[in-house]
Amino acid sequence: MSARDFRLFSRLIEGICGIKMPDAKKNMLESRLRKRLRSLEMDSFRDYYDYVSSPEGERAEMTMMIDAVTTNKTDFFREPAHFVFLTEKVMPDLLAKMAPGQMRIWSAGCSSGEEPYTLAMVLSEYASTREYCNFSILATDICTEVLEKAYRGIYEEDRIAPIPPDLRKKYLLRSRDRSRSVVRLVPEIRSKISFQRLNFLASSYGLEQTFQVIFCRNVLIYFDRPTQERVLNNFCRHLQPGGHLFLGHSETINGLDVPLVQVNSTIYRKPE
Ligand SMILES: C[S@@+](CC[C@H](N)C(=O)[O-])C[C@H]1O[C@@H](n2cnc3c(N)ncnc32)[C@H](O)[C@@H]1O
Repeated sequence: MSARDFRLFSRLIEGICGIKMPDAKKNMLESRLRKRLRSLEMDSFRDYYDYVSSPEGERAEMTMMIDAVTTNKTDFFREPAHFVFLTEKVMPDLLAKMAPGQMRIWSAGCSSGEEPYTLAMVLSEYASTREYCNFSILATDICTEVLEKAYRGIYEEDRIAPIPPDLRKKYLLRSRDRSRSVVRLVPEIRSKISFQRLNFLASSYGLEQTFQVIFCRNVLIYFDRPTQERVLNNFCRHLQPGGHLFLGHSETINGLDVPLVQVNSTIYRKPE
């Protein structure tokens, strides 16, 4: 990939999904896009760029290109302190204040589903010991490949180590075929989550409801500061007054003009 082609792709990608492509990412981008060139039997990055920027290519290929450039690293119980804060501080506060109804949580940038399934397990445990505690989770991502995996809710056994043994026993089913070392989340947990493709840079998110809690962790880190500010303000429009936003461990709202106050490390609240 020539330096000129790289600049064209980085402008295109940043404009569509906000993901920054500094020069240091050139090798990574090249190897990820090479797979797309191969499957389309194209010889040059420039041909691929022209195709994906054309109306036909935009329709047929853009989603695949975005799938190829996203980084989807995730884990069950990633940054576990957030789940403790959610059940010990946020949930009791919400239950005390709100009329009986359904709590809505958004896992924004959910990748292959480990984050929303962790939320569903933790909240099911919490709800099992309380009256009138019902919840639903919306899980969204821009990448269709990970969303399909998330929707299936099937994981290799080596992915489930961070899940506490009692939750594994209760909420995971082993494959009947013992030669397959995979597990699946039980229907009770899967039914709590709906999955949807959503680009944070879209002019409208098309969401009718607001949320009491939004988890958007390890996503903003890929955006520049103005894009982070724009996306955070969009989240705030979908967050109820008094609602909480959880960011990833290396993300901060410092220096951004957003209506949020910090309540703990990487945890923010929208004032009432
Ligand atoms: C590193 S993963 C984080 C997953 C999970 N939140 C966690 O912390 O484990 C970042 C996710 O953000 C998604 N993403 C990147 N840009 C996006 C955009 N513009 N709109 C929606 N999702 C995006 C990627 O597809 C990827 O799955």
